Amino acid sequence: MFTSAIIPAAGAGERMGTAVSKQFLTLHGKPIIIHTLERFQLCGAINEILIAIQPSGRRQMELLINEFHLSKVSHIVDGGRRRQDSVSNALSHVHGDADIVVVHDAVRPFVQQKLILAAIEKARTHSAAVVAVRVKDTVKMGNQEGRFERTLDRSVLWAAQTPQAFAKSLLLEAYAKANRENIDATDDSSLVELLNVQPAIVEGSFDNIKITTLDDLDFASVLARRFRD
Ligand code: CTP
Ligand code: MG
Repeated sequence: MFTSAIIPAAGAGERMGTAVSKQFLTLHGKPIIIHTLERFQLCGAINEILIAIQPSGRRQMELLINEFHLSKVSHIVDGGRRRQDSVSNALSHVHGDADIVVVHDAVRPFVQQKLILAAIEKARTHSAAVVAVRVKDTVKMGNQEGRFERTLDRSVLWAAQTPQAFAKSLLLEAYAKANRENIDATDDSSLVELLNVQPAIVEGSFDNIKITTLDDLDFASVLARRFRD
């Protein structure tokens, strides 16, 4: 068994709007991306970590990897224009022996070990697994005229997070199709769904936030203080 983790960290953080890309902002004494990488470094099931980064951030990333002894990092690859391109670049450098690939956003620093492990386990039996939480709000479909057309059935709705874990061969096939057919996706599992595979649901936690806006940063400081794993 060999499991590779891909951490896409090449975003510009436009919605955060800070001069420093959000993955490098300090949270509870260290950069957000370091919190995230440490979760994977400490996970016994992970054999290697690949990070996608903008070329301008490579040197800083190398220094941080040394400083925080992230010995599992095997590759720093160049990020692409879209998240999908960043993951695709990393995917082409995954170890030849890997059978499972886990993808996790650099800006979700609170992921619990048990969720990483559960996603990997489920990917072994179901080929694909996605950590997700039940939607709490009522979700409606709006139209161009600024009106709601209908209300969706909340009992079947989930908000997808990462980690998402896949059989490597399946993820390679999904990305090959996306590249061939110019398909855009905001997460990896939606590409796998286009191959008619139904990823298994791993019920996650509302703590596993993606740090996207300044508000999230405030909440992240609160969560970081009650670090629990
Ligand atoms: N990401 C990436 N390559 C891109 C875009 C995003 O590796 N071209 C990464 C981000 O660094 C982040 C994760 O994908 O870890 C989730 O993306 P998101 O939260 O959207 O981050 P950004 O794209 O940086 O933010 P924004 O969309 O606000 O610009
Ligand atoms: Mg983005």
